[in-house]
Amino acid sequence: NSLSISPTTTVQSPLQIFVRAKKRINDIFGEVEIYIGDASKFFHALPQDSDLTSQEEVAVVDGHGEKIKGIREVLARDHMKVAFFGRTSNGKSTVINSMLRERILPSGIGHTTNCFIQVEGSENGESYLICEDSDERKNVKSVSQLAHSLCTDSLGDSSLVRVYWPTDKCPLLRDDVVLVDSPGIDVSPNLDSWIDRHCLDADVFVLVANSESTLMLTEKNFFFKVSARLSKPNVFVLNNRWDASANEPEYLEEVRKQHLLRTVDFLVDELKVCATRTEAEQRVFFVSAKEVLQARINEFKGVPINTGMVADGFHSRYFEFQDFERKFEECISKSAVRTKFDHHTKRGKAIVSDTRNVMEALLERASAKKATKGQSRREVLDHLDFTEKQLQLVTVEMKDKICKMVEEVEHKVSKALSD
Ligand code: GTP
Ligand code: MG
Repeated sequence: NSLSISPTTTVQSPLQIFVRAKKRINDIFGEVEIYIGDASKFFHALPQDSDLTSQEEVAVVDGHGEKIKGIREVLARDHMKVAFFGRTSNGKSTVINSMLRERILPSGIGHTTNCFIQVEGSENGESYLICEDSDERKNVKSVSQLAHSLCTDSLGDSSLVRVYWPTDKCPLLRDDVVLVDSPGIDVSPNLDSWIDRHCLDADVFVLVANSESTLMLTEKNFFFKVSARLSKPNVFVLNNRWDASANEPEYLEEVRKQHLLRTVDFLVDELKVCATRTEAEQRVFFVSAKEVLQARINEFKGVPINTGMVADGFHSRYFEFQDFERKFEECISKSAVRTKFDHHTKRGKAIVSDTRNVMEALLERASAKKATKGQSRREVLDHLDFTEKQLQLVTVEMKDKICKMVEEVEHKVSKALSD
């Protein structure tokens, strides 16, 4: 059982909960597809003049086959999605690069990111991008090339560019996470369209704030809009550029306390996405994305992670970033399993039980026909036999499997999270 998390099996990353559940659900829908395909073949094989079934019933079963195909297509594209927002230059692109352990997205001083950029794993090990308005794959070999490709005025700030990146250096991409970078929320009047187009299917939102100032009204207002559209979004707040605190150690604790207080007030009392202050405190981090990115690039090159000038407190900021990543991974995989697979499972159950009803009705009609006409013709018996076999396959087994699986996934998720 690929989902089992026994005491002897250690779950390397909480993201694996999603990855394994996805595989398992896909396998189950693969079986359902075969059963419904068989049921459909059976209906089509019935003699046209047998008055055992109607055209409507055949259409219903065929329709279910199409729906299952559709669910499998959506399932294959299902991923865990995290969207980053914040004012311009707070370090959104740098945070994403740090999490990906590579300088992928352009970042810099001034207003850099001018449209939505979604980074996801590429299946073939190549790096390329696809703009919203065409299917053309444009090769991308470097950040500067990517920055250049994104520098066209034709892209509006709500438009989306998908960047496909090799997964070998980026564990997050390998585990089906997609990361969405956005332009600064203070430079766009199109926030409603942003939410409609990019936020409704996000599992986690990360607000990248600037710890050198304080949480701003534009940032708060954006999240009020998000939470009006989504019930209880998962929000993390990164107080970025915390390396600046090294310059003023005498105020460090005081400033940290003040930021934490305000952010927790925002999450609990204003946005109401956290039930308690303790829960909210687990969502707020003080980090320096720039330092983490540099350290990880050094680590990849095999040089010590803190070569060169390192500001005081580097290690604790680095650990706090890792702590953020761990809590983020737990949250996103739990949320994605619930929201994405629960929906598929409900639809799958409805389709299976509807197919069962159609087949049961057929069975009843066939039995009645046999009784009234006293027929013992081999043909009818054959049909009955076949119908019963189909029923057994399509109904009890599949329904139980799907129900059990959802329970299992939920159980494992909560167990993994409480461990
Ligand atoms: P836009 O795309 O313009 O909205 O900005 P952004 O939020 O994506 O910011 P970006 O990542 O481009 O970073 C802006 C500048 O801040 C860059 O020069 C980064 O190197 C720098 N920066 C990012 N994070 C940190 C940090 O933690 N500490 C310091 N000191 N600088 C940082
Ligand atoms: Mg940016």
